[in-house]
Amino acid sequence: MRLEMTRLEGKRVLVTGGESGIGREAVRLFVEEGALVHVIGVNRGELKSLEEEFHAESVTTSPADVSNESEMSEAVKAGGDILSGFDFIFANAGIGCEVEPIVDRDSTSFRKVLDVHVMGAFHAIKHGAPLLADGGSIVITSSTAGLAGYENTAPYVAAKHAQIGLMRTASKELAPRGIRVNTLNPGPTQTALQDGIAVQSTGLADAKAAAEEIAKSIPLGRYNTPREVAEGALFLGSDASRSITGTTLVVDGGFLG
Ligand SMILES: NC(=O)c1ccc[n+]([C@@H]2O[C@H](COP(=O)([O-])OP(=O)(O)OC[C@H]3O[C@@H](n4cnc5c(N)ncnc54)[C@H](O)[C@@H]3O)[C@@H](O)[C@H]2O)c1
Repeated sequence: MRLEMTRLEGKRVLVTGGESGIGREAVRLFVEEGALVHVIGVNRGELKSLEEEFHAESVTTSPADVSNESEMSEAVKAGGDILSGFDFIFANAGIGCEVEPIVDRDSTSFRKVLDVHVMGAFHAIKHGAPLLADGGSIVITSSTAGLAGYENTAPYVAAKHAQIGLMRTASKELAPRGIRVNTLNPGPTQTALQDGIAVQSTGLADAKAAAEEIAKSIPLGRYNTPREVAEGALFLGSDASRSITGTTLVVDGGFLG
């Protein structure tokens, strides 16, 4: 008889932005792989629907804006109390940005994008790492936009680059505890966030047509599915990547080239 091994059996996982898109698919995959998951997110309706999709024994949630430190410290503590600590933190929450040149940009909305991605990941590490078991893993969802520049998306590109700097620093600070820290760097992936960017950047009103236009510049000829990106997060969060830290995992169908 062949015994099926699950890759996160009994692991306690914190996911931010797990209500939709890549994060939600990651929650599904992690649970399939045996994990107990606590989700922090800003969309209360979607958090409720997540609780309805799963039993409370496998998925619990806390509402919080990742850019707000007091909300995050409370939500991370709530998750840590429920799960008695964490083995894996997936700092994934994010937002898109207006597609326009730097000279036309409003500073407040620029800062908001940095706050969600950079301060959000910082809060997840600052408040989550003390509750993370030695030997645990932290994964931040950066992007191909963390490794290359794309015109008219300055706050998003700057935020995604900054997350890599945060990851590299944290990987050194936490290595003495055997904690690994990496970024997941997806290319265009079928989610609402990418639809918004695609519609604005192509000027095509229809999200499907906009996606097809962008897919022409992806060597594999299509977007990632959220599941394919979640598989990357699973790899970095599991023991299969036990000697990998301080690096970027690109999942992009060859987009960066
Ligand atoms: N979709 C893509 O093509 C793509 C490519 C590269 C990187 N990413 C990154 O992947 C991550 C997930 O994005 P997605 O594409 O699944 O989009 P999405 O909009 O489906 O998911 C983003 C999630 O983050 C949550 N969120 C947003 N702001 C928040 C805040 N302030 N506090 C707490 N939660 C918040 C949302 O409620 C949502 O559940 C983001 O960091 C995004 O930048 C996406």
